[in-house]
Amino acid sequence: MRRELSRAAFQKACGLFPGGVNSPVRAFKSVGGDPFVVASGSGARLRDLDGNEYIDYVLSWGPLALGHAHPEVRAAVNAALDRGWSYGALCEGELRLAERVRALVPTMEMMRFVSSGTEAVMGALRLARAATGRDLIVKCDGGYHGHSDGLLVSAGSGLATLGVSSSAGVPAAVAATSVVIPINDAAALERAFANHPGRIAAFILEPVVGNVGLIPPDPGYLEAVRGLCTRHGALLVFDEVLCGFRVALGGAQALYQVKPDITVLGKVIGGGFPVGAYGGARTLMERIAPLGPVYQAGTLSGNPVAMAAGLKTLEILEQGAFARALASAEELERGLCGLLEKNSVSACVQRVGTILTLFFCQGPVRNYADAARADRERYARLHRRMLEAGVYLPPSQFEAAFVSSAHGAGEIAITLEALARSLAAL
Ligand SMILES: Cc1ncc(COP(=O)(O)O)c(C=O)c1O
Repeated sequence: MRRELSRAAFQKACGLFPGGVNSPVRAFKSVGGDPFVVASGSGARLRDLDGNEYIDYVLSWGPLALGHAHPEVRAAVNAALDRGWSYGALCEGELRLAERVRALVPTMEMMRFVSSGTEAVMGALRLARAATGRDLIVKCDGGYHGHSDGLLVSAGSGLATLGVSSSAGVPAAVAATSVVIPINDAAALERAFANHPGRIAAFILEPVVGNVGLIPPDPGYLEAVRGLCTRHGALLVFDEVLCGFRVALGGAQALYQVKPDITVLGKVIGGGFPVGAYGGARTLMERIAPLGPVYQAGTLSGNPVAMAAGLKTLEILEQGAFARALASAEELERGLCGLLEKNSVSACVQRVGTILTLFFCQGPVRNYADAARADRERYARLHRRMLEAGVYLPPSQFEAAFVSSAHGAGEIAITLEALARSLAAL
């Protein structure tokens, strides 16, 4: 596969952007090799500058639940563009998307639209702190909730100790407002409450973890943390930025029937355009400005083009596209498990809805420590082989793969053939 044009463009990019990219994982650091440079996307496929095509399991890191450039979404976006593309004033598109979201995620009685998942989480946690009058936030080791200061904390902290940042540039005092516990460990949350009595404002978690690779909640775990938060007067925040509209149309809260106090959304809700949202009960959300004292604003919040893309995406998902994507994801999982068995590969596949991860270690992977035992070098080799075969898997063992409704039987068959050859060669 020739990639001269991609290589030249990436070299130029390295002089313009740190690492040649505008978001770190795009640089392929953990799998090696130069990233390809995209010329266009259509359906389940990306095409690079050299004309190579790849079946895409990254899908813009999740948002493209219908695949690239879905014609109906494009038509909705074009129609929105014809009406102007930013008003800085309330528009009908915001109402329509909010009503659709609330129909699917009824715990979001009232919501606020922002422009990214990071922003939505920041708003949600400010609200939680204001509502409880407490400062500390509990998060999970390996849970990713965007790049705001207090949440770039995942390592170096035991259960009882306060967080230490895993990024430079985060004030120690800010990092110390986060308490880190392992994923799928309700007893650790209970100890956190005991160690910091009356000080914890919220527990934020990805109810289905996607940022360590895909990790489902243990049976009973979400119910247990729900109960603990209620008992200790803290808010339960489900960050469904990644798993919303992907593990089920109503997100993890619909799938597992556990209600958070605040839900955070992003990715699919914008159909590939920049949108985030946070929401909860009206009484809670009325604390947000201009009704209440919690300030949060955004120049491009509720952007009409993004609203139109998100609304059309949700409508199409509800009309059968989610079911099609789910069937393809199941087919991929089945085929992949068969190949692992056939080749006696020590690995496990974890999937919820349309998100899945192949971990090169014995399963189940229940938390970050389990995932850290996976053979990352082996994953990197698989990634490079699959790319050569025209299949773009996530460029890190710790990033989940996404399936869209554009991934039909043909794409899954090609993917499984490439996997069969690559796994045999590994
Ligand atoms: C669970 C979760 N929360 C928040 C974010 C941050 O969203 P954004 O990248 O839109 O700021 C992400 C991004 O991957 C995410 O996966």
